[in-house]
Amino acid sequence: MEKRVISTELMEEDYKNENSLRPKFLKDYIGQKKAKENMKIYIEAAKARGEALDHVLLYGPPGLGKTTLAGIIANEMDVNLKITSGPAIEKPGEMAAILNNLQDGDLLFVDEIHRLNRQVEEVLYPAMEDYVIDIVIGKGAAAKSIRIDLPRFTLVGATTRAGMLTAPLRDRFGVVHRLEFYTVEELTEIILRSANVFQVAIDKEGALEIARRSRGTPRLANRLLKRVRDFAQVKYNGEITLKVANFALDLLEVDKLGLDYTDRNILLAMINKFGGGPVGLDTLAAGIGEDSGTIEDVYEPYLIQNGLIARTPRGRVATKKAYFHFGLSFDE
Ligand code: ADE
Repeated sequence: MEKRVISTELMEEDYKNENSLRPKFLKDYIGQKKAKENMKIYIEAAKARGEALDHVLLYGPPGLGKTTLAGIIANEMDVNLKITSGPAIEKPGEMAAILNNLQDGDLLFVDEIHRLNRQVEEVLYPAMEDYVIDIVIGKGAAAKSIRIDLPRFTLVGATTRAGMLTAPLRDRFGVVHRLEFYTVEELTEIILRSANVFQVAIDKEGALEIARRSRGTPRLANRLLKRVRDFAQVKYNGEITLKVANFALDLLEVDKLGLDYTDRNILLAMINKFGGGPVGLDTLAAGIGEDSGTIEDVYEPYLIQNGLIARTPRGRVATKKAYFHFGLSFDE
């Protein structure tokens, strides 16, 4: 039988591989002012009381720093970080084992927590509320439930869709934060910081151009920075300037609003195939051969935030700004 790895170690390895760019402490974390200020207080208060931090739920589109923030909370609290994800845990016993291996104060990060199955999720309820797990031993009439005490731990859950969380799970988080898209100024700062970590020369205009095309998302900003760095190195003298950034980003087909191939595909399908909308999510997804959940979680939030798509009760519509972005005329 295939042996599945349910330890949290593999995911911690992934986390460490990206570590050089991740800020370690709140003072180095750029953006998310509200979440940062609040977390700072909760951390300070929990530390002063010598208690574990209350459970934290972070939600918002991918790439905005949920994992990074979990790592920072662990560092600030000076506790171990254990990482796992919703789809990685299939059985209640696997969740029980992870919880049982925690040490006092540990932070357990569960990414994509909305994808935990119901039975696994139910193990979390008493664990979060009373720091205990109930394990059933034996079968049928001989079955017995025994209760195991857990150390005081902090669960940090991350999800792209808070709406997909069941009410009992959502209600057990004492702190809930929505992460927002970053401003161009914040992304510029992140790019300059990352360039410093990579030891690559970059000027302010070059950083600003990458920031403008990063869809409000640090993960994308750092990815684009790496690609632009390659162009700077091979085609230019190594420094990232506005000219180099423009050249590289145009070749990468990331347009002036930061839209990539799929973003454009979504908008153009709405305009050309569905008369600009309103069109339902599933119809749109089928129209371009993309998963509707991916459109909703990954692509649409930025397109809505940017005023390119509007959601109406009858479906999604492409806005005037979307038409103009493609140089098309818009009939009112
Ligand atoms: N790298 C990725 N996200 C970051 C953030 N929010 N602040 C600083 N550096 C980052």
